[in-house]
Amino acid sequence: MSSPARAGAPIGVFDSGVGGLSVLRALRVQLPQEDFVYLSDAAHAPYGERTDDYVSARALRVADYLITQHEVKALVVACNTATAAAIQVLRARWPTLPIVGIEPALKPAAAASQTKRVGVMATRSTLQSAKFKTLLDSLQGQAEFVVQACDGLAAAIENGDDKTTQALCETFVRAMGDFGRQPGQMDQLVLGCTHYPLVSDVLQSLVGASVDLLEAGAPVSLQTRRVLSQADLLFAGRAGGATRLLSTGTAEALSGNALRWLGLDRVVEGVQTDAPQ
Ligand code: DGL
Repeated sequence: MSSPARAGAPIGVFDSGVGGLSVLRALRVQLPQEDFVYLSDAAHAPYGERTDDYVSARALRVADYLITQHEVKALVVACNTATAAAIQVLRARWPTLPIVGIEPALKPAAAASQTKRVGVMATRSTLQSAKFKTLLDSLQGQAEFVVQACDGLAAAIENGDDKTTQALCETFVRAMGDFGRQPGQMDQLVLGCTHYPLVSDVLQSLVGASVDLLEAGAPVSLQTRRVLSQADLLFAGRAGGATRLLSTGTAEALSGNALRWLGLDRVVEGVQTDAPQ
């Protein structure tokens, strides 16, 4: 049985930048009574074109910061790239802390697809990971997956560069092939990076209204509720939990996107995860 004080501690959520806000949005809906501390590791973004070792080292740093400085009761890795590179390392380092990761929604996409052709957009690093290969192998025969590494897209979204975002989305969607509901076309598009749901309007207009866009924010929030409940760590207080926003980089992208996507008007706190504590 956990102590009430521990259940009242915040949930730590992190990403390389603003992408994890798409997960935080779902978490705040699913767990309205909980406090959240969101950390954008913007000083080290993007993760998606870095080595696994680099991303793993950053994930350990950020997690350590959230655990020691904010005493989080659980950690949500709101980044597909960091989950693929580091979820095992994080769980090995903090075996008793509930840690929830995110993976591209290939399983629901395969199940929902009628044409049995599914487009997958993700970072290069996620697509090259052993975790992604295992996921793909586990779905062999259930659908054909057309995977596309989207170099530069998370960075363009992070920087609020709408022109580059539009151009890259056009290039990547075209490179994947035909979308639609006819035989041979892709009727599902998996958004395998948490930044991409922030530009789902752009992607939807490129693939057409008949195509389903799949993100994993909602399933991750459900899983977070489940693991907190199992650990007896759900906060029993009333709805209206607080959310703090932290960044290792500049504040603008995070404050602007938090306001735009979550209606959250917050001062972003600058943090230095590497400073001696
Ligand atoms: N948002 C991250 C993800 O889900 C990665 C973006 C990046 O830093 O490359 O993969």
